[in-house]
Amino acid sequence: MSRFDNQVAVITGGGSGIGKATAQRLAKEGAKVVVVGRTEAKLVDVMNEINTEFGEGVATAFATDVTKETEVMKLANFVREKFGCLHIVINNAGGSGNSSILEMDIEEWDRTQDVNLKSVFLVSKYLGQLMIDTDSTAASIVNVASLSGYKAGAKIPHYSAAKAGVINFTRALANELAPYDIRVNSVSPGFIETPLTEKGLENDQFLAAIKRNTAMKRVGTATEIANVISFIASKEASYMTGSDILVDGGWLIK
Ligand code: NAI
Repeated sequence: MSRFDNQVAVITGGGSGIGKATAQRLAKEGAKVVVVGRTEAKLVDVMNEINTEFGEGVATAFATDVTKETEVMKLANFVREKFGCLHIVINNAGGSGNSSILEMDIEEWDRTQDVNLKSVFLVSKYLGQLMIDTDSTAASIVNVASLSGYKAGAKIPHYSAAKAGVINFTRALANELAPYDIRVNSVSPGFIETPLTEKGLENDQFLAAIKRNTAMKRVGTATEIANVISFIASKEASYMTGSDILVDGGWLIK
């Protein structure tokens, strides 16, 4: 008996990085995973990898832009028709460019809020309703926030604001969904090696600064975040809701 046997999980931004590692981890522990993102080819690759390793039909790919309400509604309909239940949602899609406040145009501000914060609202609204409608009790939503939600990083004011929003939205949603036996928590990664950060990590000075500022003197891996997400999503965390877990190798304590 595995942790997520007979459970269905949706992972947004599942085509790469933390989302991909989480989809693999949940599938390994018995879940049927729906891997969601914008780029179909990337999603199909992840789906095929998972199905080769864990069995045909364990993973499904679904291309959608989670910043668009109609597309999120289509995702909810797809999951409803294909599975008739939903136990786990990982709101992981996100990312950011770099700009100072004085340089930033409104489009960049809006784009960053949309992908990091509005998407969490939209996916939680429509997939949360699906969890309620299908009586998928002991369900769990895990939002991927960031260390930047605690500590505003240089040149990412828009991202820092959005991720702080994710942490507090998590608390609001946890309150609203508790009566339906749905837990809502977030995880805040520190500096993790993924496609989002790989350009920065190629710069030796930047990498040295990251290590200097991290108590554990190294960057983290996507698997190290997926491990924590898996715990939060599981029944082992059954009394945990409205919380955030910081997984930053000791950045904030330095
Ligand atoms: P990533 O770039 O590999 O993953 C982000 C995924 O989100 C990509 O697959 C991308 O295609 C998808 N995505 C972006 N916009 C989307 C949209 N509108 N609709 C659907 N999918 C969309 O990067 P990573 O690092 O795995 O990021 C995952 C999450 O972790 C993000 O929310 C990020 O902000 C967060 N995070 C990452 C950290 C890091 O150091 N890598 C640190 C703290 C938080």
